[in-house]
Amino acid sequence: MKTRWVVLIAVATFSLTACGGGTVNTGSSSTTEATTNSEEVEVSSRQLTAGEEKYSSTCVGCHGPDAQGIEGVGKPLAGTTFINDKSTEDLVAFIKTGRGPSDPENTTGLQMPPSGGNPSLSDDDLTNIVAYLKSLG
Ligand code: HEC
Repeated sequence: MKTRWVVLIAVATFSLTACGGGTVNTGSSSTTEATTNSEEVEVSSRQLTAGEEKYSSTCVGCHGPDAQGIEGVGKPLAGTTFINDKSTEDLVAFIKTGRGPSDPENTTGLQMPPSGGNPSLSDDDLTNIVAYLKSLG
């Protein structure tokens, strides 16, 4: 009888030790977080390149190289409070909608077409364009 109890206690202790192993796993999951962070840095530099490409094909004709604006065609965007102070989500939503000449917020009497007139731009494309515009200062 005595021997059986010893075996049971040994099994119980073993189970507790196995649970303790869970703590070790938590340690390795923080290593995963560190990897994710460095991936995010990579994604944002890829985002900027992708955003610049899309800007250069869709927006540059009106907003000019480096988003400096073209008189009588499109406003400057680089370094403006409109770009720097609004959230990425708000800017993506704005670009998708555009701003017609009759909009009370329109200052030029010119049309900002929805998605810059390129409906094939996805939300990801627009997010990348916004990241690029914000990076211009
Ligand atoms: C056909 C010309 C044209 C194209 C193409 C165009 N825009 Fe515009 N955009 C304008 C005009 C004109 C305005 C200013 C409208 C106004 O007076 O409020 C404007 C305004 C904006 C504004 C608001 C700026 C502010 O300070 O009010 C943003 C942001 C913007 N455009 C982003 C973009 C992006 C990003 C693209 C490419 C996806 C793009 N535009 C393509 C003509 C254009």
